[in-house]
This record gives sequence, structure tokens and C-alpha cells, in this order.
Amino acid sequence: MDSPALGRERGCSYTLALMKDALQPLEAPLQAATLPQLSIVVPTFNERDNVTVLYRRLDATLKDVAWEVIFVDDNSPDGTSDVVRGLARQDSRVRCIRRIGRRGLSGACIEGILASSAPYAAVIDADLQHDEAQLPKMVALLQSGEADLVVGSRYIEGYKAEGFNKQRAGASAFATEIARRTLKVEIADPMSGFFMIRRDRFEQLAPQLSTQGFKILLDVVATGQGKLRTVEIPYTFGARQHGESKLDSMVALDFLGLVLAKLTNDVISLRFILFATVGALGLLVHLAALFIALEVFRAPFAEAQATGAIVAMTSNFILNNFLTYRDQRLKGFGILRGLLLFYLVCSVGLLANVGVAFSVYDQEPIWWLAGAAGALMGVVWNYAMSGLFVWRKR
Ligand code: GDD
Ligand code: MN
Repeated sequence: MDSPALGRERGCSYTLALMKDALQPLEAPLQAATLPQLSIVVPTFNERDNVTVLYRRLDATLKDVAWEVIFVDDNSPDGTSDVVRGLARQDSRVRCIRRIGRRGLSGACIEGILASSAPYAAVIDADLQHDEAQLPKMVALLQSGEADLVVGSRYIEGYKAEGFNKQRAGASAFATEIARRTLKVEIADPMSGFFMIRRDRFEQLAPQLSTQGFKILLDVVATGQGKLRTVEIPYTFGARQHGESKLDSMVALDFLGLVLAKLTNDVISLRFILFATVGALGLLVHLAALFIALEVFRAPFAEAQATGAIVAMTSNFILNNFLTYRDQRLKGFGILRGLLLFYLVCSVGLLANVGVAFSVYDQEPIWWLAGAAGALMGVVWNYAMSGLFVWRKR
């Protein structure tokens, strides 16, 4: 049996050996040549037919820089991540981050950049609309110390935009003008999804960035206000190769939310804005239903108020599923399950709703005041609970 003294001695020399290991420098000079200088982050959703082509083009273009590519896939049903993993098995410069139960272009880009340790990170779309041939020029601008951020811009002199229809170009120009006036974002194309940034600068900004929405570059520029030396280079915005765009009309909402969040220093988040909007609509729905129940159906007040709450809860659920939580939207049977869960978790809110309304009505029989007070109580409950239970992150 070991004597305790001997054991201690052994433990001690073991610890010393560990410390010596920790203090040993890594074999840096040997590996330095293969360490990536540039991480290319590619957000993907249903891009299985594009990723291999993009990888080949990167390989052909980036001859003089050590690079890696990080695909950030939001669990695409078309199996994009399988294709990426196939590439990664043949080339260790390819990596795949597969995110489950999450959606969002900005969040995917942020995660990809933060997963890299290369000094420079680029974001480029998978669908080959951006021009990867600009990447060497972009790296050179960062390496020379001329810029912290290089933006592939569709607006400055020399630009060509094949993939842009009139309507989209107009909407983009309008949004750019709003961003310029409200957020003092001076660059020509803050709506671009194609840029390269020093990773250390990005890491400083990352905690203030919004993970929701599409406009990661606008967020970066608005957040880094004045502190990022920015250079823009023109490129040809091509046509999408395979698959379809994921930008829908809701992207305008994302944009407005981002502008508001930035203007209020993040006091008001995108979700909160949508919550509040849906809540305000819910209040109107509630009051309308209450009015109809009271005036048309001559229902007693308590029943009318409860009816109003149920109607408002249902419409809140539907609207929140389409707007507030569209990145986690419940589908198919999930909608029914979510709705039932929504009713369940909010039943406490409904009790509070009717309770509050009753006590207000008791003191002052003004139907709209009592109805509004009750609905407000219910709405606060619905929001708190729904975030926790109905659209919880899986
Ligand atoms: N991980 C992830 N999650 N990727 C996504 C998501 C998502 O929820 N939505 C879209 N993507 C990926 C797409 O697979 C594609 O690689 C890229 O993000 C851009 O999506 P598109 O659907 O092709 O958008 P677009 O072409 O209409 O708009 C793009 O170009 C504009 C101009 O440069 C975006 O980059 C816009 O932000 C940009 O303004
Ligand atoms: Mn695209």
C-alpha cells in the first residue's frame, strides 16, 4: 500500500509535469504555414446544389492565402449539411456547423465568425450571387492595415447587378436611405451580404449584434459606428444558380426592427417590438370581441370578457407564429400542439385577466377600461409564458 507521503509526492511530481506541459510553447513554427489566415463563413439553408460549386470556386480563387470555409447550416431539410460533410471528409479546410431548431441568417454568420480563429473572416452567400473572385483583393486590403472592414458593394461606380430586379433594387435603395438618415451609416451598400472583417474587431462588436434578421452588415456598421475603417469595392451581383431566395416580404420588418433596436441602444429588441405590435392588435381584437359579445349577443360581462380573451389569445398565437417567432415557426401538428399549450400556459393569465377586469369593473363599471386592464394583464402573461413554453428553443 502506498504511504500517504509517497502518494502526495507522486501527485506533486505529476502536477509539476502537467504545469511544465502547459508552459511548453506549442509547436507553432511547424504548424503556422497551415493555419488559416482567412475563414470564409457561408450561411446555408437548402443550398445542397450550390455548396460544392462554391467550394471549388474558392479553391480555384484563393491560391495565395491559407483559407478555411465554415458552412453554417440551419439543419436544411434538403441535406445541405450531408453534402458539406462529404466535402469536409476530403478536405480538412472545410467545416460544417449544423444548427438544430434555429433559423436566421445573421445569427448563423455571427456563430460562424466566432467559431473561427483566423485573423480575417469573410461572409459570402452560398448561392454564387456574390463574387468570390473579390476575396483576394479584400484580404489584401485587411492585411495592409488599410481597412478593418471591406464591403462588397453593389452601388458604387463600376457595379453591375444582374441578380437584381427593379422592385428589389428600389426597396434596397429605400432601406439604405433610411439607414443613412437614422443610423448615420455612411457606406454605399450597407444591405450587402458580402464582406470581410478583422476577427478581433468583430469579436468586440459581437455581444451587441442582433442574431435575428438578415442585415448583419448593417448591424456591424451601425454598432461599430465610426470605429471601423471601411473600404468598399464594387462587384457583380450575379443571378442565383440553384434553389430559391429565402428573403420574403417580412425582411422589411426585420430591417425596421433592427433600426429601432439600434436607435434605442437595444432597449427595444426586435422580438419586443413584434410582441408589442401583436399585443396592441390583440388588445383591439379583444375589445372588438368584447363589444360584440356585450352589444350583439347581450352576454353577461364575465362571459363576454372571457370570450374576448380567448379570441385575442387565438389571434395573438397565430400572429406570433407568423411574425414574432417566424424563425421558430410551428408547423403542421406543431401548430395545434402549440395552440393547446398556449391556451394551457395562458389559462393562468386568463384567470388574472378576468379577475383584474372584474375588480376594475366592480369599482367603475366602464366596460372598455375594465376590458383593457384585463387584456393587458393577460397579454403580459401570454408573452412571458409563450417565450418559455410554446416557442421555446429546441
Ligand atoms: N444558416 C442560414 N439560416 N442561412 C440562411 C438562412 C437561415 O435562416 N436564410 C438564408 N440563408 C442563406 C442562404 O442559403 C444563402 O446562402 C444566403 O443566406 C442568402 O440567402 P438568399 O435567400 O439567397 O438571400 P438573397 O439572395 O435574397 O439576399 C442576399 O443578398 C443580398 C445582397 O447581397 C443576402 O445576403 C442579403 O442579406 C443581401 O442583402
Ligand atoms: Mn441569394
